[in-house]
Amino acid sequence: MSRIRSMAEYEKAHKESMDNQEKFWGDYAEQFTWHKKWDKVYSGDLNKLDYKWFEGAKLNMSENCLDRHLATKGDKTALIFEANDPKEDVKRYTYKELHHEVNKFANVLKDQGVKKGDIVTFYMGMVPELLIGIVACTRIGAIHSVVFGGFSAVALSDRMIDAESKILITNDGSYRGTKIIPLKETADEAVAKCPTVKSVIVCKRTGNDVNMASGRDVWYHDAYNKAADNCAPESMDSEDPLFILYTSGSTGKPKGQVHTTAGYMNWAKFTFENVFQVEENDMYWCTADIGWVTGHTYITYGPLLSGATTIMFEGVPTWPDAGRFWEVCDKHKVTHFYTAPTAIRALQAQGLEHVTKHSLATLKVLGTVGEPINEEAWEWYYKNIGKEKCPIADTWWQTETGGIMISNLAGVTPHKTSFATRPLPGVEPSLVDADGKEIKGNPADGNLCINRHWPGMTRGIWGDMDRFRQTYFTTYPGKYFTGDGAKRDENGLYRITGRVDDVINVSGHRIGTAEVEDALNQHEKVVESAVVGYPHEIKGAGIYAYVICTEKPADINAFKKELAQLVTKLIGPIARPDKIQMSSGLPKTRSGKIMRRILRKVAEGENDKLGDISTLLNPDVVAEIIEGAKKI
Ligand code: PRX
Repeated sequence: MSRIRSMAEYEKAHKESMDNQEKFWGDYAEQFTWHKKWDKVYSGDLNKLDYKWFEGAKLNMSENCLDRHLATKGDKTALIFEANDPKEDVKRYTYKELHHEVNKFANVLKDQGVKKGDIVTFYMGMVPELLIGIVACTRIGAIHSVVFGGFSAVALSDRMIDAESKILITNDGSYRGTKIIPLKETADEAVAKCPTVKSVIVCKRTGNDVNMASGRDVWYHDAYNKAADNCAPESMDSEDPLFILYTSGSTGKPKGQVHTTAGYMNWAKFTFENVFQVEENDMYWCTADIGWVTGHTYITYGPLLSGATTIMFEGVPTWPDAGRFWEVCDKHKVTHFYTAPTAIRALQAQGLEHVTKHSLATLKVLGTVGEPINEEAWEWYYKNIGKEKCPIADTWWQTETGGIMISNLAGVTPHKTSFATRPLPGVEPSLVDADGKEIKGNPADGNLCINRHWPGMTRGIWGDMDRFRQTYFTTYPGKYFTGDGAKRDENGLYRITGRVDDVINVSGHRIGTAEVEDALNQHEKVVESAVVGYPHEIKGAGIYAYVICTEKPADINAFKKELAQLVTKLIGPIARPDKIQMSSGLPKTRSGKIMRRILRKVAEGENDKLGDISTLLNPDVVAEIIEGAKKI
């Protein structure tokens, strides 16, 4: 199937994907390089969780990302690296050069003893070697697990232990504005707790002093110089795991979502090319970090599978000044720009003078992802960045979905302020009411589910299929429950309203309230805590923690600082509470369950909307909490 270019083609494609799913995806998959074609496009049952895509097929991801383009696009730029410091030289890799680098890195991994099926953890800054390294894993059939460079040593070791990772790839440090983040130091602390990790490859970036453990640590450039040039692509089964990526849920520790090879590959390319509509000479830039799923699918796999040019940005949007994004857009003649609402709001707050200094004339398409985009931010983005001529693709999806699920197709299907609009072909969304009944007709408001399987869907939680079933398939049997709430307007267009479970989207990063509570509870003076989200002007949602202590701390501010530092140490700065309120108790039901609804309302300042509190075990505590909140 060629690319969808009109509303009529979209409608036709969506209908075909629903009426004859196997034919639709079988036809699409023909374009890839297969070592062996599939026996069956789709088999299995959403209820049994035994689904398979392209069963029986053999292929290699890196071959489809790179080798497949060499004859026609070998000299085309595949990757542009824009460093943290605008004065540093830009690095460019053609498809031929990227192919060479990936082959080399694949051989480095092999020389370090990495074998097909092994899990390789990456804890790096946004440098080309991260992208090259993950694609190199796919060349030899190793499974990559990227851990965002902002996570703490504890968070990193938890993920390596869960994955039984044998090897870690890191940097000496990474640049963030004027700061150097000492990644190797944190990695050393993490590895000390992971008996399975036998080797650490260190890629030099910042040149800061690091300890190299003899017999365990190697410098990437040393290993690179010894590695052979060519590495034949391993023949992988369609359902072999491609990567795992940890993400937060409403309960317990982060879960490793497993994505497999053929289904994800089809989904990544299909969604990339249809949502963004990137043409041959376009310049595409997604500002995400490869530590998150957006960087996997829309910096790495989607663009490379499509033979596009992808920009990788190491820095931050506000350094050297708040015009950096727009300066980079002009510098590289960016045509497609994809970012998160939190970045848009932060830059909006810095004033228009940072925007108007730059021309932004090459922009054709804008995108947004990670959290609901409020109307004001949407309008600002549309008017000041897109100059009222660029469609905004509001792309709703999740780590679990592998790629975009609901979005307008830029310039092809209409956008609507703050609406993700229509499902992509292959996606059958539904809204479900509190009793679990699907709401038919429009308008509607309910919990967002997906009724059928699609190629890019997670295949499970690493090592815990029970939890997988429990989390996504038991709330509404026969449907995948997303954890989000949504509205459908009178024309059937979707607007995502945000999480309805105990997950908070802080600056577009998913944080489980239970994770933050676990961290706070580790303080010896904390008896109990409850964490909720509250509206935050820039971050979308902020973290509000209610804490009960064994005794009143002598210095409350110092104590709160200690708590915030503890969360930073155990999870990372992204999970640091914005507000901490001490309390003598938490509102509980007679069965002892914390009434989060009340805590949420108080944190939101909606004290008149608490509802009936008379049935609480301890109604008196509510007045104390309301009073306390006024002082925060
Ligand atoms: O709540 C939704 C929100 O981000 C969650 C998924 O987070 P994560 O797995 O980290 O993936 C983020 C990047 C895909 C969703 O459950 N979300 C994502 N995109 C949107 C969104 N909420 C509203 N509108 C969006 N466009």
